[in-house]
Amino acid sequence: MKTVKIGMLGIGNIGRGTYMTLETNRHKIEEATDLDLQIVKILNRHPEKDRGIDIPKEKYVTDIRDILDDPEIQIVIELIGGVEPATTYMAEALKAGKHVVTANKAAIAKNGRMLQELATEKQLMLRFEASVAGGIPILNAITSALICNEFSSVQGILNGTTNYILTRMTEDGASYEDVLKDAQAKGFAEADPTSDVEGIDAANKLSILISLLFGIGVAPEDIPTRGISDISSKDINFAREFGYTIKLLASAESHDGTLTCNVEPSLVPLDHPLANVNNEFNAVYITGNAVDNLMFYGRGAGPYPTGSAVIGDVIGEARKIEKGAAYDLTPHLRYDADLDFRGEGQNPYYVRLRAEDRPGVLGQIASTLGTYEISIRTMTQQTDKEEDGVVSIIIIVHDVERNVLETALNVLLKNHSVKSIDNVLRVLE
Ligand code: HSE
Repeated sequence: MKTVKIGMLGIGNIGRGTYMTLETNRHKIEEATDLDLQIVKILNRHPEKDRGIDIPKEKYVTDIRDILDDPEIQIVIELIGGVEPATTYMAEALKAGKHVVTANKAAIAKNGRMLQELATEKQLMLRFEASVAGGIPILNAITSALICNEFSSVQGILNGTTNYILTRMTEDGASYEDVLKDAQAKGFAEADPTSDVEGIDAANKLSILISLLFGIGVAPEDIPTRGISDISSKDINFAREFGYTIKLLASAESHDGTLTCNVEPSLVPLDHPLANVNNEFNAVYITGNAVDNLMFYGRGAGPYPTGSAVIGDVIGEARKIEKGAAYDLTPHLRYDADLDFRGEGQNPYYVRLRAEDRPGVLGQIASTLGTYEISIRTMTQQTDKEEDGVVSIIIIVHDVERNVLETALNVLLKNHSVKSIDNVLRVLE
């Protein structure tokens, strides 16, 4: 049996899950692969800290050079997270002749191109399955089994924290603030939840998917992104009345030589497979011209599901090393397709506003939207009046550019009968 020695950077939740996945399933892995995978050194800046896991202390090193300068280590697993110092460490590992496996979406979304060029130059492997949707093997699927397809769209629920919050709001009728506090107390949401709730985490993952599915580079900061912090139980209830549920969707579509994409809370029809993806689960729904529609579903976070994806990549690299065919850049990030990036494109939208309940107001709203060529699909008025004679009005409009809709809504606000625009959300067809 061939032994492959590995260095691991970081021993937080994912590091522990990766180590435990390897040790718990060692027998199965050895039987299936005839490989003896050994994590021999672990970069741990705080070796005195109790990590709640039984790892021989002599494996811990505090200086990355102990890993990079060890000629026996062939694979480096990066599990520190964040763009830096993780990117620099991965680049250093490649320069030192090590193959790299990472779970780091932020570093791959921002610096994947540079790291891939370095890997190509050094004829080394760089794998990052765990960076998108945790335990779901979506990157392997789209770059191997489904590689013959021309993909036209992807919609993903790529963030477990926000899906958990929206599910609890929907099922328990609780407010965003209350569910977030509860999720933080239970350890499901970070103390600083900004990256999750504002859609930044999902935008990083979508940027990676776009490169692999459509072959162009769209930086996460160029993806139109909105989070879930403005969603209220009113939106959830109105959406339900119209036959939708609200999910934070990361979407991209390729059509007639253009790519459109966004991350935003969206109304998903109750009969769409994504509508039933609840709690902390993730799902990726893709359409390819040969395979048609496919949905991948599973745990997008957590030490063991993420560890499963990381160890899968390590085994993939170790198998190539054993066969002496080490250079293989799969998944291969691409940036060369002949597609124009056109922002978020045209979509149907849901609008919730407050206006006076008196004759002619609905007509004025319809007329203003009409001036901007915005066509109304459905419109309804809440039956319970607020004390000052103001009611909520819900409108779903046909396909329109978001900036055109916002211009029209700003004009509506100048009409003294319209008191506020409370939310605007994309509708998935
Ligand atoms: N914070 C992410 C989530 C997990 O809530 O899904 C890691 O990507």
